[in-house]
Amino acid sequence: MNFKEELEKKTGEAEEIVKRYLPGMEGYQRRVLEAMDYAVSAGGKRLRPLLMRETAALFGETGDSLFCFMAAIEFIHTYSLIHDDLPALDNDDYRRGRKTAHVVYGEDIAVIAGDGLLNYAYETALRAFDKAVTIADYKRTECAMKILGQKAGVYGMVGGQCADLLAEKPETEVTEEMLLFIHKNKTAALIQAAMTIGAVLAGADEKAVERIGQCAENIGVAFQIQDDILDVTGSLEVLGKPVGSDEKNHKLTYVAMHGLEESKRQVETLSGEAVGILRAFPHRNAFLETLVEQLIYREK
Ligand code: FPP
Ligand code: MG
Repeated sequence: MNFKEELEKKTGEAEEIVKRYLPGMEGYQRRVLEAMDYAVSAGGKRLRPLLMRETAALFGETGDSLFCFMAAIEFIHTYSLIHDDLPALDNDDYRRGRKTAHVVYGEDIAVIAGDGLLNYAYETALRAFDKAVTIADYKRTECAMKILGQKAGVYGMVGGQCADLLAEKPETEVTEEMLLFIHKNKTAALIQAAMTIGAVLAGADEKAVERIGQCAENIGVAFQIQDDILDVTGSLEVLGKPVGSDEKNHKLTYVAMHGLEESKRQVETLSGEAVGILRAFPHRNAFLETLVEQLIYREK
């Protein structure tokens, strides 16, 4: 099987796992459940669950608890997209090739669909405790829960999003340091959560988890710079979301600060360092290494 076929197969499996944990659509809350389902089922690369599973594979076996966290992280990611697209934030009408949740369900339902997904993500992740048998299982699950909470919250994605919103204001002077803070938190934090949770659940030791955290930070920052590059060079058809969104929102990105060529070089350097970290582990995961290398060339 070549890389592309393997990626398709593994993405399909991640998709199936995520959908398995979606709640049913019954009751007086049906409309919010439908909106949650709509946003999650719209597709996407399923990169975070994929990275979690592949990082776990690098360190050994994991049980079903991994599946709970794979679904949970995709629910958190999807909630962040729903809220990011809202009129009060980026005000985008398309995402993942479909109309955004607020366009289809209205702003009121879209807001609570995001809230619903965020809460349901923790309900789902907590189900991992039901699968724990040994004390070691409990400890790993507890550690994974802490990572998820921290990296998705004010000391992670929400914190990065806050700085990003501030950076859009004309009176804010955006420094390189602030931009890096935004990238590390808004985007890299959730990728770090994905990979370090995979490592923790598979029993990696503290030092290895730390290395994975560094690797994931590089991937996350590279991923965000690539996202900003695609906002300039991509198209709605391929990306599934509008281009030029950063300019519309007066966003100072790495691309605006350093230009396209330097940004592309930076993506290559960061990805190269990330792959270097992966290669230094005693066990190798060739698929994961190629996946990280390929993110540089992604077009969506
Ligand atoms: C695209 O992911 C998403 C990013 C590059 C991250 C941007 C960060 C936010 C939207 C944070 C928003 C936070 C709050 C609190 C509102 P992707 O290319 O993997 O998307 P896909 O899953 O559709 O493929
Ligand atoms: Mg935004």
